[in-house]
Amino acid sequence: MYTEEVMKHFKKPKNMGKIKNPSGVGKVGNIVCGDVMWLYIKVGKRKDGKEIIKDVKWQTFGCVAALATSSVVSELAKGLTIDKALKLSNEEIVKKLGGLPPIKIHCSLLAVDALHEAIYDYLKRNNKKIPEELEKKHEKLKKGLAEIEERYKDFLKLEKKLTKQA
Ligand code: FES
Repeated sequence: MYTEEVMKHFKKPKNMGKIKNPSGVGKVGNIVCGDVMWLYIKVGKRKDGKEIIKDVKWQTFGCVAALATSSVVSELAKGLTIDKALKLSNEEIVKKLGGLPPIKIHCSLLAVDALHEAIYDYLKRNNKKIPEELEKKHEKLKKGLAEIEERYKDFLKLEKKLTKQA
């Protein structure tokens, strides 16, 4: 069973959607189930000159747990410095939701990974130093996404065709 907090975020998700001209975009997929998430960030400066995540939006094709964790991550990441956002962990998200059924823990990884990928994209676009750990994580996530895209390539072709027609 899902907790009340999970259901609250699922029924009324926060920050769902897209950011126009984002500073970074993270796209990740879950190899267990094939679900996919996009997370957009807008980076700006705080009064003291430190860079912070000013806005976060997301689009998730996934289950109840994936949607709820996306919503929580978007709330928690807003206002954080890049360093702090990189420290956001899966455990923190699950705790914030009051727990998840063990079989659904893998779903909660999607949102944190997407956030980290969006930060990676932001750092890369701006020729900023990418922490070694983030670089390694990015390589791993890229492989996972490629696996999913290979598995669903026929569907992706159809999706492209339909998008062009629309
Ligand atoms: S079952 Fe796919 S993200 Fe939860």
